[in-house]
Amino acid sequence: MTRLEDGARTDVLVVGGGIIGLAVAWRARQRGLAVTVLDPRPGGGAALVAAGMLAPVTELQYGEEPLLHLGIASNRRYAEFAAELAAATGLETGYRATGTLAVALDADDKAELGELHAFHQRLGLDSTWVTGREARKLEPMLAPGVRGGLHVADDHQVDGRRLLTALLRACERAGVVLHRAEAAELLVEHDRAVGVRTGTGERVTAGRTVLAAGCRSHRLPGLPDGVLPPVRPVKGQILRLRIPAPYRPFLSRNVRAVVRGAHLYLVPRADGELVVGATSEEQGYDTTVTAGGVYELLRDAHELVPGITELPLVETGAGLRPGSPDNAPLLGPTALPGLVAATGHYRNGVLLTPVTADLLAEYLATGTVPALAAPFSPSRFARSSA
Ligand code: GLY
Repeated sequence: MTRLEDGARTDVLVVGGGIIGLAVAWRARQRGLAVTVLDPRPGGGAALVAAGMLAPVTELQYGEEPLLHLGIASNRRYAEFAAELAAATGLETGYRATGTLAVALDADDKAELGELHAFHQRLGLDSTWVTGREARKLEPMLAPGVRGGLHVADDHQVDGRRLLTALLRACERAGVVLHRAEAAELLVEHDRAVGVRTGTGERVTAGRTVLAAGCRSHRLPGLPDGVLPPVRPVKGQILRLRIPAPYRPFLSRNVRAVVRGAHLYLVPRADGELVVGATSEEQGYDTTVTAGGVYELLRDAHELVPGITELPLVETGAGLRPGSPDNAPLLGPTALPGLVAATGHYRNGVLLTPVTADLLAEYLATGTVPALAAPFSPSRFARSSA
């Protein structure tokens, strides 16, 4: 690991070594910039827990069309992004072009999915209605009561843990400096962000400081009021099961449903892991796994795929999604010169990683905000409150 000397200067200082911070650092380094990532434990964060569903179409919410376009743009880059990472590191990311089946368990769900399908059609998205029988033909482990649903051929998956490991190695190989320390204070001089003081008192100065610290981004001491809106933690509890070899494939694609108002999804990996998620809880900075959370996930997953209770449960966990006030990410320069945001990705951090890295690297290298990033400017909140 390369360490910065105290008082060292870099072109770009990325605060936060999670999936977004590492990807931005890697891409910025590829553009010829000197880049440092500041994080006590780079390679951590919400992506360590996430299921890694790449689902811009099945997770589409009404009124979020700009986010849909960003998600689709990122999804289209994924295969190449994963291949490029594999070539740079020799590591696989678990990217799998499986598609997704979103199903209905009762008449209300069916009506809701029907509306989503109509919305997809109005937007020209690739989304096919399937009957219950057709859904079970695609996924024979589904409960007999499944009423039908949507087959979305382009909503895929990646393994967030493998992706983090690969990004960390790619950064190291590309010459990104990994500075394993806490960010204690943003340094602001003459109304400009000039770097960070670390928890051990070192000054790391930079031409641009990128805040990519997930749901802790707006809590960096020294950040002037109003520069970044609150990025709230939204807890997601998740389960990992193992599909023994004789039961495989068990599921061949991502399967999701809304059960009693909660979003449930099952993501089957090529290596036999089955990820079941996720709760959505506004509990502050709490990552406790609760009996209730595990119970609800297993109860709902059992309703959808009864055979799941036969599988070994190997891990439970909880992560914190970084939710911005409008649930869309904050990308690009902030109102404080020298300070750039790459945070607030909420439910879409893994999906939006390639496009975020490309857009931020473009801005950092050229000083121009790419058109695709413009709707996600951090200043949109300053404008609405003015
Ligand atoms: N994108 C899935 C989740 O946030 O739970």
